[in-house]
Amino acid sequence: MAKKGRVFSGARPTGRQHLGNYLGAIKNYVALQDTYDSVYCIVDVHALTTVETTENLKQNTFEMALDWLAAGIRPDESILFVQSHVPEVMELHTYLSMVTPFGKLTDLPTFKEKVRQQPENVNYGLLGYPVLMTADIVLYKTDIVPVGIDQAPHIEFARETVRSFNYRFNTKVLIEPQVKHTEVLKVVGIDGKDKMSKSLNNHIELASTAEETTKRVREMVTDPARQRKTDPGNPDICNVFTMHKIFSPQEEVDMINVECRRAGIGCVDCKLRFANNLNKDLEPFRAKRADLESKPSYVQDILNDGGKRARAIAQQTMSEVREAMQLP
Ligand code: AMP
Ligand code: TRP
Repeated sequence: MAKKGRVFSGARPTGRQHLGNYLGAIKNYVALQDTYDSVYCIVDVHALTTVETTENLKQNTFEMALDWLAAGIRPDESILFVQSHVPEVMELHTYLSMVTPFGKLTDLPTFKEKVRQQPENVNYGLLGYPVLMTADIVLYKTDIVPVGIDQAPHIEFARETVRSFNYRFNTKVLIEPQVKHTEVLKVVGIDGKDKMSKSLNNHIELASTAEETTKRVREMVTDPARQRKTDPGNPDICNVFTMHKIFSPQEEVDMINVECRRAGIGCVDCKLRFANNLNKDLEPFRAKRADLESKPSYVQDILNDGGKRARAIAQQTMSEVREAMQLP
């Protein structure tokens, strides 16, 4: 079947993926493969803007490849690769930087947040992060970019950069990408408050064992106004209920919705039910992941092959870009 266009997404190799990554991004990576030519990238160069040491980079890249493959990325059909295997992206990053106003980069909320998080390491690469991200996207003539809501300003930045570049060089060689989010815009962590993220240690890893997952789910914060089992709760503001709506059968969701409000079901019971349903849902993922983990050279071959296929597209785009820029 002819596909509609191209999808591209990437994520920094932070290691094992969590429910936020899955519900906010990976679910779309997998679904979009059916209708789009798909390219997924583990952005190790972007990771260098924040990491203090690269000693875990290889392992984290491997862990992420395992998670993405186990979640359903199909490497025969789609391209799965590592960013640094396609050095053309660095060249395009440099060209795009010439049409990028400095102030636009310093104004980005994502940059300001990083400055707050790592004031001792505000490096040049960190400032150029969105330019490199734009290079990732446009190098593959991407139509659609599935990412979580936090990345929306970066996609808007990419669109503006494409317009500036095409205008400046009087060309149509670069394509303006569209952002695509999942229905769950922001997955909240087990603290019931902040966005789920590894750095806040409020996450639930997809690859944990069933026991570890249950332990983590038991720590989830529910409706804070509900102190005792005999107090009625409010599912509308409870993160555990939000998760039930995603992972539990409809009858169970309906039952909890009624029983929680009249203190017929306690938070511990409610959480254990969620943990069971989540573990059931993740069973096939975990089995597939364990199998892949036992075949590291097979996974490495997938990444190497993906790199070659990605590079062929990148080289074609770069010759068009150089031509449009009239580089001698
Ligand atoms: P990160 O792990 O922050 O590099 O993010 C990788 C991808 O997952 C990006 O597309 C993010 O937008 C998405 N993502 C990360 N955390 C969450 C979350 N808590 N809720 C929704 N999407 C998320
Ligand atoms: N900035 C993205 C994140 O933190 C990762 C990323 C790099 C990306 N290049 C990309 C996402 C290109 C989509 C497209 O999650």
